[in-house]
Amino acid sequence: MRKYLLLSAVLLSGAAASAWLMTQAGAETSARPESADLGQGEKLYQSYCASCHGANLEGQPDWRSPGPDGALPAPPHDETGHTWHHSDSVLFDYTKLGGKAALAAQGVDFESGMPGFGDQLSDDQIWNILAYIKSTWPDRQRQIQAERSAAEAQREGN
Ligand code: HEC
Repeated sequence: MRKYLLLSAVLLSGAAASAWLMTQAGAETSARPESADLGQGEKLYQSYCASCHGANLEGQPDWRSPGPDGALPAPPHDETGHTWHHSDSVLFDYTKLGGKAALAAQGVDFESGMPGFGDQLSDDQIWNILAYIKSTWPDRQRQIQAERSAAEAQREGN
């Protein structure tokens, strides 16, 4: 229970999320490609992510409640979820390292159901998948997420 609360605090609360974001300096984030390949991103999303996050980015049913094993289901990546609340570098690290390692780097011990894809996907491929996910959001969500990413990049000096 405590772990679930911790993660909820990290992922769901805006204040906690920005505190978490501020500790992101030095994370594994790599430079993204100059221009995203949305077609490739969509194909890779369907092959690597859709089985859990849904073919239409709808996530798993009851994604806000932990399952019988205490783990959280996969959240939607569309605008009904909270993916757009996170900066680019958070989304990148979560995808590359997996939930457990990404949170461990922040001192949070959590058995995440989100696997790491760093040994299956190149950095460019991960950026293309994220670009595809973002391309499905309405303007407002895209704008908020872009501003958050820019503010964080500035704090980190890159
Ligand atoms: C085996 C199921 C599974 C697969 C496959 C999977 N995920 Fe996840 N993912 C999860 C679960 C479960 C969570 C929620 C638990 C957590 O946040 O630790 C999650 C959380 C996330 C998050 C952070 C939460 C948020 O705010 O959206 C991101 C980003 C993410 N996944 C991206 C991806 C991408 C990109 C792919 C494909 C490359 C992918 N996932 C494939 C299960 C999966």
